Amino acid sequence: VAVQLSDYTAYPFEIEQVDLRFDLHPDATLVRADLKIRRTGAADAALELDGEALELKSIAIDGAPLPESAYELTESGLTLQDVPNAFTLVTEVEIAPSKNTALSGLYMSGGRFCTQCEAIGFRRITFYPDRPDVMSRFTVRMTADKETYPILLSNGTPGETGDVDDGRHFAVWDDPHKKPAYLFALCAGDYDVYRDQFTTMSGKVIDLAVHVDKGDADRAAWAMDSLKRSMKWDEETYGREYDLGVFNIVAVRDFNFGAMENKGLNIFNSAYVLADEASATDADFEAIESIVAHEYFHNWTGNRITCRDWFQLCLKEGLTVFRDQNFSADMRSRPVQRIKDVIRLRARQFAEDAGPLAHSVRPETYGAIDNLYTATVYEKGAEVIGMLRRILGEETYRKGMDLYFDRHDGQAVTIEDFYACFEEVSGDDFTQFRLWYSQAGTPEVSVEESWNPETREVAVTLKQRVPATPGQTNKKPMLIPMEMALIDDEGNMAEWITLFEDEELTLTFDLPEGSERPLVSINRDFTAPIRLKRNLDRETQLAMIRLETDPFNQWDAVQALAKQEILALSEGSQAEPDDALVDAIAAAVTGASDDPAFAALLARLPDVNELFLERQPADPVALDAARKKLQAALYGKLRQFADSVLGESSTQAYDPGAEQAGERALRTALIGLLAASGADEAGDRLLSLYKAATNMTEKLAALRGLAGLDGEARETALADFEAEWTSNPLVMDKWFGVQAGTGDAATIEKLAAHSAFDLRNPNRVRSVAAAFAMQNLAGFHAPDGSGYRVVEDIILKADKVNPALGARLLTAFEQWRSLEPKAKAEAEACLRRLQAADLSKNSADIVSRALG
Ligand code: ARG
Ligand code: ZN
Repeated sequence: VAVQLSDYTAYPFEIEQVDLRFDLHPDATLVRADLKIRRTGAADAALELDGEALELKSIAIDGAPLPESAYELTESGLTLQDVPNAFTLVTEVEIAPSKNTALSGLYMSGGRFCTQCEAIGFRRITFYPDRPDVMSRFTVRMTADKETYPILLSNGTPGETGDVDDGRHFAVWDDPHKKPAYLFALCAGDYDVYRDQFTTMSGKVIDLAVHVDKGDADRAAWAMDSLKRSMKWDEETYGREYDLGVFNIVAVRDFNFGAMENKGLNIFNSAYVLADEASATDADFEAIESIVAHEYFHNWTGNRITCRDWFQLCLKEGLTVFRDQNFSADMRSRPVQRIKDVIRLRARQFAEDAGPLAHSVRPETYGAIDNLYTATVYEKGAEVIGMLRRILGEETYRKGMDLYFDRHDGQAVTIEDFYACFEEVSGDDFTQFRLWYSQAGTPEVSVEESWNPETREVAVTLKQRVPATPGQTNKKPMLIPMEMALIDDEGNMAEWITLFEDEELTLTFDLPEGSERPLVSINRDFTAPIRLKRNLDRETQLAMIRLETDPFNQWDAVQALAKQEILALSEGSQAEPDDALVDAIAAAVTGASDDPAFAALLARLPDVNELFLERQPADPVALDAARKKLQAALYGKLRQFADSVLGESSTQAYDPGAEQAGERALRTALIGLLAASGADEAGDRLLSLYKAATNMTEKLAALRGLAGLDGEARETALADFEAEWTSNPLVMDKWFGVQAGTGDAATIEKLAAHSAFDLRNPNRVRSVAAAFAMQNLAGFHAPDGSGYRVVEDIILKADKVNPALGARLLTAFEQWRSLEPKAKAEAEACLRRLQAADLSKNSADIVSRALG
């Protein structure tokens, strides 16, 4: 049964205090919860508690055990009628962490205890109102075997510790801040700890610690450095200071997502903690920096102020992604960061918006809450905050945020509460703007331009349309802010921001005597997350590459040309890439070589995920082949440049920062082109680059290139890599990933049969199944259906073990309706088989929505 936003009612009780006691054993952990409860709602309201996979051992109110007739126990919880107005409820339950393969609630990873409670995992730990608007104070007391689990962590502030009988010990933690249950966390085990301190702006010294596997402490240095920079940035940018004396991070190998912002005890997928030059790529370093920041920033946007209900998820996620993107932009290059964010948005969120799983940033209904952690809620949610800031201006935005923090600290609130703060500080009305939260689908803005040489009048007509999405056919015009400019051929310009709020808008400009036709620059810096439809002739597009002053639009002009070319090649309307066009792209790349990170982005052609959206029906196999053809042509033009860039070997000590990473990005982009070039010597060149590489970034780029070729060089490199890294699971994920990302169904079958393939480890499953189904569309969407069958097989098995994982993989099918007829028929048949299979609730929700 679907949950509706409009059904919200407040919880009729307040939980004033929660005292939890854990007697930790892998197979049978005893959890005692003392809840101090006070009625706040109707006198006859029953006390309803969520609970799942719990074995109730005892239950008492104010010390008196309850007879079975006093409560109703079901699969999903516990209901008590006729409870007093104020009382203490004590329950004892038994749970089995070692059998918890869903990785939700309390589970074991690498022989240690850890938790994941967002969104609804706490109910798998104890009976509780597991909803974000019930906030309480928690204390935790854990007991465990001292030798196996010497470190015992939970939220808040550490308290008493000591030994008890049988070689066991205990630790107490007390969290002074009220929080919802989804922010509860506990970790117990033996770790290596990387420690540091941070002094806050008011002079408080915070003890910081990153807990990792034995022997991995050195690889936690970058995560720690990122944490300290995040703490500083939030003070400087938002005036937000940390609010506890300790901040702990724990890395776990088995984790369903990236990381989790539990109060004072962030738990991370180890992929987003561990890094060093030899084992991690620059992309890994970047991801660690941004995810550490993201989770830290949640302390204010998520924890101190949380969501009233899960429909408001974007309130914390969209806002926090926006904050982490700006942090990364400040740490690195702002334009490069912007381009990367948009690449991701277009490849993932635009695809979601265009398919059967489309939903609004704040959905109004859901079948399974785990399936709402989407690109739309996160990434489009972040874009909406970006537009808000652009409309308000930096200063007013900050005033609104200050008011939000001030007014709602300690509360669980809604998007309306958030916007009320900005309306108050600005005097503006954001009613129309908030359609971004309720209308799904990517708005399309078409542009018509005219120029009258006599009157020197430029006219630009904009028309907007929001495509229909499931359950939403008639859309209202959105408020679309767009930065625009007119640019003359000397690069002079006039810049402004248009608030486009009707279906149609015409802007006219009278230019002074002697003016030539200017370039019209629209949606600069990708102001709004829209699809711009513009019919520009080739000459104007080329002029745009030369004259654009906005780096995003300059890059996008190259992308637009490359997209058209790949589409033409894939449809057979053109046999070979146009020489002049390839020249122009090559010139843009070499022309940007003093900013290698930007040059790398120019050399990266749009990938199939993005091209997919440009033409329906889409033929991923043809698109992939056409893309490779254009890459080969581009390599032909850049050969000398590539030789000289790849020929340089760096003598500097490795540094993960933006400057060196930019240089390596250009090298890896050129390695990618070399791999696609089809040149005879490519295999040998790649193998020697592979052997010469002194860092994982370049090693992996060469390996990826080799993985896509046939022949001895490929086998040599893959065998060498496997032998070297067999005991490092994160690096082995890369080994699986490059093969899955370039191979076909037979490759996937082989990888899934490898002794190191492990259905219980989400990273490993994703390194095969998601790398194939989500990043290798030509392989996955093979017209004979082989790609679907091999992924179906993995999903059916994975879903039994871990429903969240199964459901996430299934989203790869979201585009099936847009495919060419052969693949489409195979995809549909596969979805129908899946529909008939015995899937988890999470997975069944995706399949039924995908089939519509
Ligand atoms: N709040 C976490 C983050 O974005 C992610 C939690 C994911 N939970 C889920 N059920 N998908 O940082
Ligand atoms: Zn988040």
